[in-house]
Amino acid sequence: MRKAVFQLAGLFLFTLMAAIPSIAVPGTIKPGEPWLDDRGQQIQAHGGGITFWKGAYYWFGEDRSQTNDPDKRYVACFSSRDLVHWKFRRQVIALSDPEHLGPRWVLERPKVFVNSRTHKFVLYAHFDDARYKLARVMIAVSDRIDGDYHYVKSFRPLDQESRDIGQFVDDDGSAYLIFESRPTKGFFIAKLTDDYMGVEKTAFIQAPLEGGAIVRYGNLYYVIGSHMTGWRPNPDVFATAPSLAGPWTEFKDIAPPEANTYNAQSTMLLKIAGSKKSTVIFMGDIWKPKELWDSRYLWMPLDMQNGSMHLPPPQSWQLNVKTGEATILK
Ligand code: DGJ
Repeated sequence: MRKAVFQLAGLFLFTLMAAIPSIAVPGTIKPGEPWLDDRGQQIQAHGGGITFWKGAYYWFGEDRSQTNDPDKRYVACFSSRDLVHWKFRRQVIALSDPEHLGPRWVLERPKVFVNSRTHKFVLYAHFDDARYKLARVMIAVSDRIDGDYHYVKSFRPLDQESRDIGQFVDDDGSAYLIFESRPTKGFFIAKLTDDYMGVEKTAFIQAPLEGGAIVRYGNLYYVIGSHMTGWRPNPDVFATAPSLAGPWTEFKDIAPPEANTYNAQSTMLLKIAGSKKSTVIFMGDIWKPKELWDSRYLWMPLDMQNGSMHLPPPQSWQLNVKTGEATILK
């Protein structure tokens, strides 16, 4: 009964704040805590990414709900104007094994790109068999940002093995797929072709990392990634370069290595370019491999200056998406 009253009160507050954004008190991001959507359910957007579209943020990720059909793979979409309060839009993918890969086939780390030429929304994801031997990406396309994404094809980008993928959209709108390729002991940054149905080589970074993400901040590109320890956390590292083609610096830790990225693994670097400043958010997953549905999120504003990047210890914080200011609460 008490739980129902709390859920109802939460729903009421969410609706009120969505309706009157100008009086809304800034919401608080609480890394590691259950993050509830407008229905009061834990957000299912693991290994995810954010797409900004017509004034709103859309969060896409793996939907690992316990109620899902175990033979299908799901991607959920949530929307928000403040990056704190998220409205569940729908499961944009509920896909039955399209290439007969067998039970425990894999669809991970979905990312959605908006193609302004074709007016299509193009979803890339890591596509694999149970033993992660296929090592491909898959593409699914929709006419609406939160519409049904229809499976189109799977392939190895640049004919290379591809496992973890990441997404980067540069300030000029150019869109890139980041993909990890084990035999080459490094990862690729590959520009999407005009129709976004394929990629072309842009750069290769000789570092065997996964969970790859890139952001442009000031005059530099920053790349981040984790080492390869399956679902177990390890110390994420970063490097910088004046252009995507490099030269890239040596990789350095983003936090004290013994903290193991505070049990998280990178999935995206999200830049909020506000009226007063730009803040880059580290978006990470705190995986719970045995209960993936209960995996948590670690989002924190990064401390970045002149080529350095530091992830502060997780604490509650607030963000003003208009000014770009982030305040870590003491
Ligand atoms: C690490 C990857 O980053 C995750 O997305 C997932 O593929 C796990 N490995 C599986 O072990």
